[in-house]
Amino acid sequence: MATTVGVLSKKSYGLKDEAISHSLDSMNSVDFVSATDHHDEIPTVDYSLLFSDDHVERANALEHLGKACQEFGFFYLVNGVAESVVEGALKGISDFFHLTKQEERSEYLKKSSKDRIRWGLRSHAGENREFLKVVAHPQYHCPSKPADFRDAIGEYYKRFHEVELGLAKAISKILGYEETYIEKEFKLEAGFDVSAMNLYPPSFHSKGSIGVPDHTDPGLFVSLIQDVNGGLQVLSHNGKWISVNIPRNAIFINLGDHLEILTNGKYKSHIHQVILDNNEVRRISMATLHGPSLDAFVAPAPEFVDESHPPAYRGVTYKESLELNGYDEIDVQSSIAQLR
Ligand code: SIN
Ligand code: FE2
Repeated sequence: MATTVGVLSKKSYGLKDEAISHSLDSMNSVDFVSATDHHDEIPTVDYSLLFSDDHVERANALEHLGKACQEFGFFYLVNGVAESVVEGALKGISDFFHLTKQEERSEYLKKSSKDRIRWGLRSHAGENREFLKVVAHPQYHCPSKPADFRDAIGEYYKRFHEVELGLAKAISKILGYEETYIEKEFKLEAGFDVSAMNLYPPSFHSKGSIGVPDHTDPGLFVSLIQDVNGGLQVLSHNGKWISVNIPRNAIFINLGDHLEILTNGKYKSHIHQVILDNNEVRRISMATLHGPSLDAFVAPAPEFVDESHPPAYRGVTYKESLELNGYDEIDVQSSIAQLR
């Protein structure tokens, strides 16, 4: 598994700016390259080793995580959540989309910005998916049907929340802080987490069909689980679209905008998209955005700011930053461009 990639260049960061301005045409001019050379492989981080009792093993694992964060910005995480818990959550999502009637699902069509459960069906040039969005933390909201759905998803959230805190500790250490630094700065006890559960039916196939348009995600990072590979791509530091083919026992982690802000750009939040070309399968995914608390004020930390690295972002509360693009707290797309 590769652990290094080409050094981040200003040019690749410029690509991100273009994409944030929603210029899909310009994005299409970036060559699509599948994961063929080692620079395009996605690193794997073993969660259990980050807390190994063997200090050499632990130090190596932390160093590897540091490289994954800085040189890639995304990685596959193994040994964090039991496969049975992930499978249970995915089965729950599949049952929701397949067993409840559309009238029942559409009860969750957004009526107000206060809705904590939202359903939607998009089938147009810019987006093709059915989704259910729920607030996962600090209060967990979930449809009551089908039976077992709430518990199956709740079990995943319970376990992943521990993993989130563990990763926040590990990343704090790598950045040179004491281990509770990010947890305290982002007030993760009340961290605002939102899940988008997605169904991409094969009937949406057509050349160039977009499942989810290019965007970055707010927050500390996103955790993504899915039933099958097919369509998720991430734009690497060196400006190539990489297919995300998640190993069976892994969770895909993509760093978020607010970790980029905190580190004043040392860590980047990467653009990703879902393209349905050649997507032969009905794919289910759940992307959970793990954010700071809504009232946490996030700005570049002083340790990442000096004369040659002036603050690249202004500081605002998480809530304000989510609302900057005119979205509300749950229906949020990339907001980082507004914070420069
Ligand atoms: C997203 O990032 O919004 C969805 C990703 C996916 O379904 O793979
Ligand atoms: Fe996303």
